[in-house]
Amino acid sequence: MDYKVADLSLAEFGRKEIELAEHEMPGLMAMRERYGADQPLRGARIAGSLHMTIQTAVLIETLTALGADVRWATCNIFSTQDHAAAAVVVGKDGTLDAPAGTPVFAWKGETLAEYWDEAEKVFDFTDADGNAVGPNVLLDDGGDITLLVHKGVEFEKAGAVPGQDSTDNEEYKEVLRVLARSVAADPQRWTRIANDIKGVTEETTTGVHRLYERFKEGSLLFPAINVNDSVTKSKFDNKYGCRHSLVDGINRATDVMIGGKVAVVCGYGDVGKGSAESLRGQGARVIVTEIDPICALQAAMDGYEVKRLDSVVDYADIFITTTGNFDIIKVEHFERMKNQAIVGNIGHFDNEIDMAGLAKIPGIVKDEIKPQVHQWIFPDGKKVIVLSEGRLLNLGNATGHPSFVMSNSFTNQVLAQIEVFTKTDQYPVGVYVLPKHLDEEVARLHLDALGVELTELSKEQAEYIGVDVAGPYKPEHYRY
Ligand code: NAI
Repeated sequence: MDYKVADLSLAEFGRKEIELAEHEMPGLMAMRERYGADQPLRGARIAGSLHMTIQTAVLIETLTALGADVRWATCNIFSTQDHAAAAVVVGKDGTLDAPAGTPVFAWKGETLAEYWDEAEKVFDFTDADGNAVGPNVLLDDGGDITLLVHKGVEFEKAGAVPGQDSTDNEEYKEVLRVLARSVAADPQRWTRIANDIKGVTEETTTGVHRLYERFKEGSLLFPAINVNDSVTKSKFDNKYGCRHSLVDGINRATDVMIGGKVAVVCGYGDVGKGSAESLRGQGARVIVTEIDPICALQAAMDGYEVKRLDSVVDYADIFITTTGNFDIIKVEHFERMKNQAIVGNIGHFDNEIDMAGLAKIPGIVKDEIKPQVHQWIFPDGKKVIVLSEGRLLNLGNATGHPSFVMSNSFTNQVLAQIEVFTKTDQYPVGVYVLPKHLDEEVARLHLDALGVELTELSKEQAEYIGVDVAGPYKPEHYRY
């Protein structure tokens, strides 16, 4: 088995934490119980790119328990938990000398070049006869492996890959490098891979956004299930997950007293709502920035001040971006921040903060306090602390969302994988959300663990509000 992780000897520690997590992931464990015997994913070759954490380990082992063959990379250079990666490779029945789990290509602190080299490896499956084949399903978070396939096909059609000097974007240079190498070795590889792919299930807002854009411009190559917009994903993971893991990241990184500080949360979508609540829970005085009048009004009515970044940048202590947009915190903002201000991003990509611009300020010095925590020292001696180099700080500085909330997200992932793999004909190229009855089912699977007593509708009540006793309980347009 090929794999690349930091340290296989961490597997035992990883296994213990996986077992703890399983207890907190009732949705995933129910999937194993319900579908284990039927093996609905037998024959599925799943290429996965999603933060390689303990929770993801439980997801991977659920997919394999349902019959899938899986290869996995991370979707962020800082988010891997090395003990989780090691445990997945060794597997439940393997040993350090004879790993028997799932191939993983991920470690904490990859370079960008390593990240894209490892991302490519999830496409290297072998069939029963030992022939090289590609995956037939993708499971993506942020759309990076979906991008590799689409760009690969695009370049194969055009007959060439643009040179790395065709872009200023350091990350995209690596994409071009990897694709140039692979297209040179096999000029039809990505076209073959794309033809075999039945679909992709996408985890996050930013990845979903990329998929709808592709579909709109007519370039989407296979069907996609938007897992993010299952209610039991975005209204839980994005919100309650960030409510937990944002302050966890700030605390582990800086141990600064959050109570009493002025914290600015840029964006008041699902992630912003959880982030603002997280900081307020610690006693911070929270200010929100928004561009959408509806979300701005929500923030105001939830009791936050809503201001422009320009109005508050001089006196705030903590800045968190949650927008999924780019250029939110710019050089001019860094220049006006006070000494020891803390800056971090919890949105998917690092371009929410102009890190490249920060590094170009004449005379600025980047000083590492510890991995993923840097102070940037300005020529006048002022320091600004930046977490995880502008990448997802809840995964870079802490361990991401806790198991229980990820069980909701990942149960949707498993259901989406089964849908797209077993009901391929029902999904022509397009972007879909899972049907509401499955969304309700995911929630239902998590009630017992919290001691929830769900009230049952009587037949008459169900008729009166026009629903079935067994659900779905809300029309499609209901927003929760
Ligand atoms: P969303 O679309 O619900 O919220 C984003 C909000 O930012 C919107 O309300 C939008 O109006 C606002 N916004 C956009 N441009 C802005 C600007 N210039 N200034 C102020 N506000 C602005 O998206 P969601 O679900 O909250 O996700 C946000 C990001 O977080 C995405 O990149 C997503 O992929 C990522 N994410 C990260 C997680 C993590 O664990 N770190 C978990 C889930 C999502």
